Amino acid sequence: MNDICYLNGEFLSLADAKISVLDRGFIFGEGLYEVMTAVECNLLHYKNHFKRLRDGAKDMQLEIPFSDSELYCLINEVLARNHFACCSVYLQFTKGPAPRNHFYPSEYVPTLFIMTSPFKMPSCLDVVNAILLKDIRWQKCNVKSTSLYANTWAKTMAKTSGGEEAIFEREGILTEGATSNLFLVYEDRVLTPKENEFILSGVTRELVLEILRRKNINYEETVIPTDSLWRADEVLLTSTTKGVVAVKAINGKPIGNGKNFNLGVEIFEAMKALSFT
Ligand SMILES: Cc1ncc(COP(=O)(O)O)c(C=O)c1O
Repeated sequence: MNDICYLNGEFLSLADAKISVLDRGFIFGEGLYEVMTAVECNLLHYKNHFKRLRDGAKDMQLEIPFSDSELYCLINEVLARNHFACCSVYLQFTKGPAPRNHFYPSEYVPTLFIMTSPFKMPSCLDVVNAILLKDIRWQKCNVKSTSLYANTWAKTMAKTSGGEEAIFEREGILTEGATSNLFLVYEDRVLTPKENEFILSGVTRELVLEILRRKNINYEETVIPTDSLWRADEVLLTSTTKGVVAVKAINGKPIGNGKNFNLGVEIFEAMKALSFT
């Protein structure tokens, strides 16, 4: 059996894991989550994931009754009870069940759910089509909130158009992908939208910036007008489960020459090496 998850103090089969219909995650879509990866039971970049989780919890006034090392141990126990060489780890916190009321409850017992799923590390740089969409999300995109309707809508729009990802723009400025951060590669530098309330502070984004620093490649975290997309040599998307992915075309319009993703490949190789250290 390798469908053992953790829910509120118990290790259970997924089919037996149940929460109350009054859970604020269910009723209000009010919750926080993280998606991590583990290779041979090694949880990758977990300190950065926990830091983002705690930043979100502060915003949501959600008291997390676990230290980082307790969270790490719980995840490791889930990893040990399943037998995946390579897996993704999903963790979600909510304020738990409470009488339905928009005001935050003054007392609550948080719900914590952790599950793992088998996951295949990509062996080479994936190349995808994307669409450009108006960023209809709210102004707390920096919080990794479980309220993801805008993102599921955007991903489905991308899929319907034969693509993989939707890239958002807000008033002529690029923000991020529906499930990824964005990098534009030019001959002399790399641009990525600067961190603010309109983008998630991606763990992989930070990893890519570290790789660029190590390689002495110029980069700028800045405001990027949408039309910069069409002048880029490469457009790259980053996320924990996909690593780095190159975009071949957006709305059917090729990016660069639509074939060469040299920096994409270089970053992919550097990330692969980092994932096993
Ligand atoms: C909206 C959004 N931006 C960026 C990312 C990438 O974040 P990370 O690299 O931490 O996975 C994600 C990942 O799911 C995301 O949902």
